[in-house]
Amino acid sequence: MSIARMLARVPLFDKLTDDQLQRLEAHITSRYYRENEPVFRRGEDGETLYIINSGRVKIHNISDDGHEIIIAYLPQGEFFGEMSLLDGEGRSADATVIEAGELLMLHRSDFIVCLSRYPQMVSHILSVLGKRIRNANAQLDSLAHHNVTARLARQIVILSQQHGVTTPEGVRIEARLTQQNLASLIGASRESVNKNMKYLRERRLITFRKGTIIVHSIKSLAKMYSI
Ligand code: CMP
Repeated sequence: MSIARMLARVPLFDKLTDDQLQRLEAHITSRYYRENEPVFRRGEDGETLYIINSGRVKIHNISDDGHEIIIAYLPQGEFFGEMSLLDGEGRSADATVIEAGELLMLHRSDFIVCLSRYPQMVSHILSVLGKRIRNANAQLDSLAHHNVTARLARQIVILSQQHGVTTPEGVRIEARLTQQNLASLIGASRESVNKNMKYLRERRLITFRKGTIIVHSIKSLAKMYSI
């Protein structure tokens, strides 16, 4: 597939005309990343915007006491690395490829030119940033006000929306997550995630199939944290 056709599939660029995509193509490079390969580390200078053409990326940090904090799992089609390009600070978090795939890359100088030429891109970036801030605020609220069961239910709903595929059995979360990953996403211990996953399974809200989670009732999970 040509790079211009790949770009047309990505929400960040899908409002650009064929002509604009072809001009952009000359400035895009791509690289295949293996599973667990780091893309960049927190604090590094940001020179590049990344777009996930295939695979999945984890945005995360290590806390002062050595625990991993997972900020987000990003699926195919999402972009990352825009913050340090926009504010000139170092990378705000680590990025690691967790499912092998191809990343498309746009250098900072070309990104800035794109922002001045293509208002469609600016409005898409602002809308994604708005959603990410909303999610981060809701996450803070959840940490302050919800117990582990409600936080886990909320996280499973978010993962279903971002990484879910509808199957006859329910929504299958395509990202392969360990209980430790879930614990790092919701600020809980692996043991309490284990206990609460069992609780959700016993209530037939979720099941496990070949290392993935199948969600049977997003509505019932949502009720557990939106009372
Ligand atoms: P940057 O700071 O350059 O490097 C880390 C990247 O992680 C950042 O840009 C964003 O693209 C991404 N990122 C940071 N916070 C979030 C978040 N809350 N949700 C999704 N992505 C994020």
